[in-house]
Amino acid sequence: MKLLIDDAHIEEIRSLYAYYPVDGVTTNPTILSKCGKDPYIVLQEIRDFIGAEGELHVQAVSRIAEDMVEEAHHITSILGKNTCVKIPSVKEGYKAMQILKKEGYRITATAIYSPAQAFLAAKCGVDYVAPYVNRIDNLGYDGIATVKEIQDMLTANHFETGILAASFKNTRQVMSLVTYGITAATLSPDVFKAMNNNQSVESAVEAFISDFESLRGKGKTMLY
Ligand code: E4P
Repeated sequence: MKLLIDDAHIEEIRSLYAYYPVDGVTTNPTILSKCGKDPYIVLQEIRDFIGAEGELHVQAVSRIAEDMVEEAHHITSILGKNTCVKIPSVKEGYKAMQILKKEGYRITATAIYSPAQAFLAAKCGVDYVAPYVNRIDNLGYDGIATVKEIQDMLTANHFETGILAASFKNTRQVMSLVTYGITAATLSPDVFKAMNNNQSVESAVEAFISDFESLRGKGKTMLY
């Protein structure tokens, strides 16, 4: 399963890439608004950092299909044709998805709250559907079960569309889907870091270092 960062702060992105196996970056208009800068400056910085082949998802914000298509053309003309354009899974969005897929663009159908939306988007030929796990939970439904149902639906229908699960609030939600084997998940930096946040592990590693130092001396390692 691919693991992406759901954030646009370049320092946060750099720092996670420095330590962890990261497959790309996803953004949305809310995430970009939190940077408080020209979105294209922020996005270009991310593109420069992850490289031309790096996976980057950028959302269109128009309400009408033809305008979404124009936005997709503009986004990809600046950030590269392999940029995944996120198109909301609404009526106008499905129209835009079909046009853009015929034109050969990479499309992520976003704002997925139900398997029915994912089915329509998959029929439009999108590359990813992005269900919002935690937001579905907050509506009183089961976000993880919804994603699993979407995966079963994609498999049963032999769609090539993958799932890019989004909107996680804890690592338990993420691991339920890792175990199920979906294509990708995008995590906020906090949830990403929590994947490795375990005091017992830290203590165990510290005890090993301390035991070795008591044998060989302070600061000594296996390099001697
Ligand atoms: C991704 O496609 C979504 O925009 C994002 O992950 C939503 O996350 P949130 O529910 O934490 O805002």
